Amino acid sequence: MRRAIYPGSFDPVTNGHLDIIQRGCKLFDEIIVAVLINPEKTAFFTIQERCEILTEVLKDIDRGDCSVTVESFAGLMVEYAAERNANAIVRGIRAISDYEYELQMALMNRRLQPRLETVFMMPAEEYSYVSSRLVKEVFHLGAPIKDLVPPLVEQRMREKSSK
Ligand code: PNS
Repeated sequence: MRRAIYPGSFDPVTNGHLDIIQRGCKLFDEIIVAVLINPEKTAFFTIQERCEILTEVLKDIDRGDCSVTVESFAGLMVEYAAERNANAIVRGIRAISDYEYELQMALMNRRLQPRLETVFMMPAEEYSYVSSRLVKEVFHLGAPIKDLVPPLVEQRMREKSSK
């Protein structure tokens, strides 16, 4: 049983994240999408909203035989991964600019938990510039975000910002 954790903020989940999950499904029997509870960071969506949106949009992707679930976690990711008996951490790398930070995290995580491997995956080129941060920025400035995020995310962002 190969179980991976795909940790992140997912504020909001983008089509790039979904692309990585679909690719991960080819390698793992189970992927736990793990949303970090980070009280220090102001988020657009609450943890509950992010988990709910992820659970909903994951129903529509091709998962093959892989079981994909969504959970939230707090504290050290490697401790959470050990509790879940995960073999690997999946992280997406879009460009060289992501690599330095991801390498640092992967090596720190390896030091903390040597048995846990980090697997880097590249999203499709069409998502190589897509980030949650930029999606939120262009959305707040009135630009279309269709094709960057699933339709449900766009809908929930509109609902939330009109409140
Ligand atoms: O989507 P993000 O914000 O790039 O994800 C970052 C995340 C959640 C993977 C990272 O911040 C993390 O693992 N945080 C949990 C705390 C932790 O373990 N920190 C040590 C990292 S070496």
